[in-house]
Amino acid sequence: MLRVPSFVALLLAASGAACGPQDCAENDAVWAGDAEAFFADYCLECHSSALAGEDRQDAPEGVDFDTYALLAAQDLEGVATQIELGYMPSADAAASPTPDERDRVVTWLRCGAKEE
Ligand code: HEC
Repeated sequence: MLRVPSFVALLLAASGAACGPQDCAENDAVWAGDAEAFFADYCLECHSSALAGEDRQDAPEGVDFDTYALLAAQDLEGVATQIELGYMPSADAAASPTPDERDRVVTWLRCGAKEE
């Protein structure tokens, strides 16, 4: 007898393994010229070490993404969660990433955030 609930569970498990934002094997993103561009396009408007005071638009001091070292000093899972849930970039940012761009950088952050 085919037990339908476990068959469905198997299908869901299989599709989850084959694709989705968590698949490290499929994610060839690196920092240099890649994730770097994501942070430049969507985050540096507020989170740049070159900005001070009001120019940071309330982004916390020290939470900066303009170099790999500055990013690597952050809680990477925290950064991934902010992007994944759509909290960052904040609603008043000049530009917002597509769902695909979000997935790609979130996976990169969770798969070791390789520099090159
Ligand atoms: C328009 C300005 C702006 C942009 C653009 C922006 N942020 Fe923020 N960010 C803020 C502000 C303001 C806060 C503090 C308030 C809050 O947490 O909502 C913040 C907080 C954060 C925090 C939490 C820091 C902490 O203390 O825990 C993270 C992580 C973060 N941002 C990541 C990002 C990332 C990654 C991007 C780009 C995808 C981004 N932000 C784009 C303004 C911005």
